[in-house]
Amino acid sequence: MFIAHSIADLRQRLSGARAPAFVPTMGNLHDGHIALLRRARDLGDLAVVSIFVNRLQFAPNEDFDRYPRTWEADCARLRAAGCDVLFAPDERELYPQPQTYTVRPPAELADILEGEFRPGFFTGVCTVVMKLFACVQPAVAVFGKKDYQQLMIIRRMVEQFALPIRIEAGETERSPDGLALSSRNGYLSPVQRAEAVQLSAALQRIAQAVRAGIDLSAVLAAETAALAARGWAPDYLTVRRQSDLQAAAPGEPAVVLGAARLGETRLIDNLEI
Ligand code: PAF
Repeated sequence: MFIAHSIADLRQRLSGARAPAFVPTMGNLHDGHIALLRRARDLGDLAVVSIFVNRLQFAPNEDFDRYPRTWEADCARLRAAGCDVLFAPDERELYPQPQTYTVRPPAELADILEGEFRPGFFTGVCTVVMKLFACVQPAVAVFGKKDYQQLMIIRRMVEQFALPIRIEAGETERSPDGLALSSRNGYLSPVQRAEAVQLSAALQRIAQAVRAGIDLSAVLAAETAALAARGWAPDYLTVRRQSDLQAAAPGEPAVVLGAARLGETRLIDNLEI
């Protein structure tokens, strides 16, 4: 595996590549990331992963400083899974001066759900992804469905800027009990880890209610109250249309989305219906 810390080294290494397939990450890699890498290996002639903890997408009160950085373990996992190129710039390399140009996605996509509770988050994500795309110039990029709104917003960004990049979605990887894999699961105490599965369990019950045609507002209120009673602080539980996460009309492909804090840890999950 070739490791590039600079944009120049990366470009030199990728100069002969016909169709690089790219997986952007913030490191602390788990099986979900490795599944995305395997997908990238199938899709391109060269699999490129980036590790960059992007300060721009963290609010001042969020966990940028304590976000887990596990460089040696990440490199070992990537090597074992057949990553060809790892791009790991430091902040000065990727943002050599204050990044005064940013990519601001439209409010109707980016200020709802995650964006309502994490103002500016998707501007940070779109800005870094645009910059990483400019560095890697992939033919295809793979994003996990775990971050459903992120995937939708990146798809729109690529369409709107006519970037010659195909966006592929990777399914959410889960622990045997159903918890969606996430780097933030590592913050959970053993007791919280056992409790954490309740978020995906709530989403499953909501999905069943949608399929059964049961009155959704009552179900959402009951599930929100049930999580709160177990000690969670729910931000939202909702059912939206898959394509743009606006209100779903009956019969449209829908997705159940949820976000809630358990202690200091904020977890998100979703289920397509
Ligand atoms: O999903 C993530 O890990 C990040 O939001 C991403 C896409 C790597 C941008 O920093």
